[in-house]
Amino acid sequence: MRISVIGCGYLGAVHAGCMADLGHQVIGVDTDAAKVDALNAGNAPFFEPGMPKLLADGLASGRLKFTTDVAAAAGCKVHFIAVGTPQKKGENGADLRFVDAAVESLLPVLRPGDVVVGKSTVPVGTASRLTAMIHEVAPETALVWNPEFLREGFAVADTLAPDRLVYGIAAGGEPAAAVLDGVYSSALDADTPRIMTDYATSELVKVAANAFLATKISFINAMAEVCEVAGADVSQLADAIGHDPRIGRRFLNAGLGFGGGCLPKDIRAFMARAGELGADQALTFLREVDSINMRRRARTVDLAREVCGGSLLGKRIAVLGLAFKPDSDDVRDSPALSVAAQLQLQGASVIASDPKAVANSAKRFPELVFAYTVEEAVQDADAIMVLTEWDEYRNLDPHHVAGFVATPVVVDGRNCLDPLKWRSAGWTYRALGRP
Ligand code: UDX
Repeated sequence: MRISVIGCGYLGAVHAGCMADLGHQVIGVDTDAAKVDALNAGNAPFFEPGMPKLLADGLASGRLKFTTDVAAAAGCKVHFIAVGTPQKKGENGADLRFVDAAVESLLPVLRPGDVVVGKSTVPVGTASRLTAMIHEVAPETALVWNPEFLREGFAVADTLAPDRLVYGIAAGGEPAAAVLDGVYSSALDADTPRIMTDYATSELVKVAANAFLATKISFINAMAEVCEVAGADVSQLADAIGHDPRIGRRFLNAGLGFGGGCLPKDIRAFMARAGELGADQALTFLREVDSINMRRRARTVDLAREVCGGSLLGKRIAVLGLAFKPDSDDVRDSPALSVAAQLQLQGASVIASDPKAVANSAKRFPELVFAYTVEEAVQDADAIMVLTEWDEYRNLDPHHVAGFVATPVVVDGRNCLDPLKWRSAGWTYRALGRP
């Protein structure tokens, strides 16, 4: 099938590559010429496992191309909208200007029978509004809302083999859904559940899922706060409650909390939209979820101050991990980067490292000092802080690291190190939610 993907950021570039991998003929469209050039040269503008091969294969097969010219989408049967919906500046709501611009740019190329498919995360009510916009000029083009649930670090696998497919359709939208079935035939052949529903439900599925995940993380982080004052161990608590299949152990890792390009902005946009619709009370708990999450960052800075003897002034602190999670170079709303910057602002001399996220961190906080190896980062450190649980930090040998630091003190911001191993190697080990 001929497919266009409008917006080639994280979501769009991965989606375009995966659609080509499935055998479709794909044109990716983005207004950023530098991004388009990079993608056409086989370079993803972000680190994502599997992405270089996906791009190389797609480009070599001739089934995948990128352009800045939306006219190239003419003749495609399906047009995916995959642009960003960032948080509005100074407000909680989502900024929909890129979604609106993407749909507007498509209007001249739409032909009867084409299907526009929304993948961006949008406030409930957007799909109906966009349908009205489309029908003014292209009454025979249908819109299907098909939210994306991909996780960074697993984006390719999540797109090729999703947990579920959700189609939000308007009345009479079954023929458009059948076209989308053709796009996803391999997933459907593998019995991927497909939920067909109305626009509003499909839009809410995405934000409800992210609100649930954020709540789960903040729940365990609230338990960590209680564990800290009670002298209990939140990791063991999570293991114990996680054995209950009704609860489950996943997303119960206590630590610095959630960040990234999705969870923080999505729960805020969800609260803002519920407020507009008159249901603000229903989501006031998400404000608490957000506050618990932010308190973890402040607590980590306090812990650093504590282990440095009450003051951060002039202390040399090695920060290991800057990405918002491992296997990613993404530092959008990264708890790790935010803690590193706070430590620096409060007088510490920070040397920060990350396997993939140094370049992106340097763009946001050029005043931090960066190191490219663990050894360089921890040299003469008064304390080291592990803030993103990359495997190479989880597997650090405490005896080896002890040879470089000034003082063997480690703060485990992700509960990812083995306290026994570090303590028996002579380290002072401190973590969030653990005695
Ligand atoms: C998330 C959703 O998982 C995905 O379905 C949606 O499409 C986009 O948003 P992503 O942003 O890639 O995906 O990250 P995710 O794996 O959900 O992690 C989010 C944050 O939560 C990270 O900062 C991670 O470190 C943190 N986290 C996750 C915890 O602090 N504890 C956990 O137990 C799990």
